[in-house]
Amino acid sequence: MIGTQPLVIFSGNSNRTLAKRICKYLGVPLGKADIQKFPDGEVSAKIEADVRGADVFIIQPTCTPVNDHLMELLILVDALKRASSARITAVIPYFGYARQDRKDEGRVPITAKLVANLIETAGVDRVVTLDLHAAQIQGFFDIPVDHLYGSRVIARYLKRLDLSDLVVTSPDVGGLKMAWAYAKLLDARLAVVEKRRISPDSVEVGFVIGDVSGRNVVIVDDLISTGGTVSQAAHLLKEKGAERVIIAATHAVFCGPAIERLTAAPVEEIIVTDTIPVTANLPNLQVLSVADFLGEAMHRIHMNKSVSKLFRS
Ligand code: R5P
Repeated sequence: MIGTQPLVIFSGNSNRTLAKRICKYLGVPLGKADIQKFPDGEVSAKIEADVRGADVFIIQPTCTPVNDHLMELLILVDALKRASSARITAVIPYFGYARQDRKDEGRVPITAKLVANLIETAGVDRVVTLDLHAAQIQGFFDIPVDHLYGSRVIARYLKRLDLSDLVVTSPDVGGLKMAWAYAKLLDARLAVVEKRRISPDSVEVGFVIGDVSGRNVVIVDDLISTGGTVSQAAHLLKEKGAERVIIAATHAVFCGPAIERLTAAPVEEIIVTDTIPVTANLPNLQVLSVADFLGEAMHRIHMNKSVSKLFRS
């Protein structure tokens, strides 16, 4: 017990390695839960620890297979609620289904809002997450959301590389705020690539705003999905005379042609975190753990201490 109520931590199947690392940081064992599948593929779950009156955290990024992992989260939360937990915090290091977050054309859903509703309806009291695809998704919840930034962990690593004459580059206009936050942390200049999305797995890059010639460049993004955005940006930046090019992104979604594209990209290093399990085998891939960072946020929440120090990007 750390706070007034016992702290109990559970994990679904989406990233048990990260959950174990967080438990190690907090010095608590991972709670036992039996998560299986019925023969027809439905998820079945049973909590195998006493959680009555407990402050429960459930760690579950909703990464691929997204539907299974989301259902696991909802079902575990339902079990915990019915077992009389005092408070349930969903720690969702990577929040999937975030792309459709507004009605920007006719007859489209707002899936991020739907998923927020599902999580809340299941019985979650609080959410901890990292680098949402759009920060406004916080507002889709009517419960507290602690939105943390992977830049805290990644910038610490980048500082150690001692990159002189550094330009932080956003691979698209949408990522400018994130790039600006990195630039502040790293005391670097800022640039942005003009990108247009042609289809879900292909993009076109146009020009670069900012001077990168002869300078070291770090391309920062919230996630790498098919790798088109960051790899095309890397090729363009090299063409514009960039010296060393490094890619840094919080979530390694890595799907479709991602590995192929990243292998061919003219980059020295690709830095990601372990919000999603990374199985890719790239020689220049560096996976940083966010376990201690998330563990500290969970500790503060449990102790009713301020988390705002960790919010700052
Ligand atoms: C875009 O808004 C995001 O920040 C990422 O740049 C994008 O989702 C990455 O997708 P991909 O790797 O498929 O280009």
